[in-house]
Amino acid sequence: MRHLLSTKSLSRVEAITLLDIAEDMADVANREVKKLPTLRGKTVVNLFFEDSTRTRISFEAAAKRLSADVINFSAKGSSVSKGESLKDTAQTLAAMGADGVVIRHPASGAPQVLAGSGWIDAGIINAGDGTHEHPTQALLDAFTIRRRLHGTASRGRGLDGVTVTIVGDILHSRVARSNLWLLDTLGAHVTFIAPPTLVPADTSAWPATIGYDLDAAIDAGPDVVMMLRIQAERMNAAFFPNSREYSRRWGLDDERFSRLSSHSIVMHPGPMNRGLEISSAAADSDRSTVREQVANGVSVRMAALYLLLSGDREDS
Ligand code: NCD
Repeated sequence: MRHLLSTKSLSRVEAITLLDIAEDMADVANREVKKLPTLRGKTVVNLFFEDSTRTRISFEAAAKRLSADVINFSAKGSSVSKGESLKDTAQTLAAMGADGVVIRHPASGAPQVLAGSGWIDAGIINAGDGTHEHPTQALLDAFTIRRRLHGTASRGRGLDGVTVTIVGDILHSRVARSNLWLLDTLGAHVTFIAPPTLVPADTSAWPATIGYDLDAAIDAGPDVVMMLRIQAERMNAAFFPNSREYSRRWGLDDERFSRLSSHSIVMHPGPMNRGLEISSAAADSDRSTVREQVANGVSVRMAALYLLLSGDREDS
């Protein structure tokens, strides 16, 4: 694997290999010394053009556990805010000898541009581009689901027959898109539930069932309910009347949470708007995987960095 740009382009074998390597990386996290020498002498740059806390520190922790040198480059307060182009930034990073670049960018497709540009020869990992994709988030979600279902017997398995209901701001969510492709590849069935205004106009190419009624979706007893954040920063119009109305119809409130079937797990990529898309009782219950998702994110990102950067990049 040379770059990790999307889950749409991952094969089932590639996806399961990545999840299995993440299992090995999770074992490392349980050791007294959490560090592996694998990427010693390599440089990983976290290039963040959008605000982020958990994804950036997760990649930073992952790279450090593999002994790479890490440079954090955030566009705010940098030469980018002085008008430097992606090309000039990339050439600067290339001149500094970056072996891997983890990029988050508000424009859909920016990581692909960087990977195909010839400006820099590093392995590129997409850490979220606009409303397009966020592949490591989907991989950590799949990893989390697989572990909850199969525990230590997870290795080698997909998610065949698992039902996943993803609720909320589908229109603006790169997490929803990356999950859709990956879950489909792994054999799961995806249902999207959202206000009609927060679903794209044409979803005919999506391998998903689309619905608008959260209560019916809850009563169907899905294995996984994944709540998405309302992405107010990407909204340039009124997509729903107000937040009370949103949570009344599409929020996982205490009443809906109590009706969830006893085997269902509750997921959220963070950051959560408590009381809007998810109640505190649901977020903090033992059926919620929110904190596991954060921990598993480090293992999955270690696996991605390992696959892209260990060994000779010319041969990969
Ligand atoms: C997600 C993102 O940035 O796309 N968050 C994250 O990676 N921590 C989801 C979100 O912002 O709602």
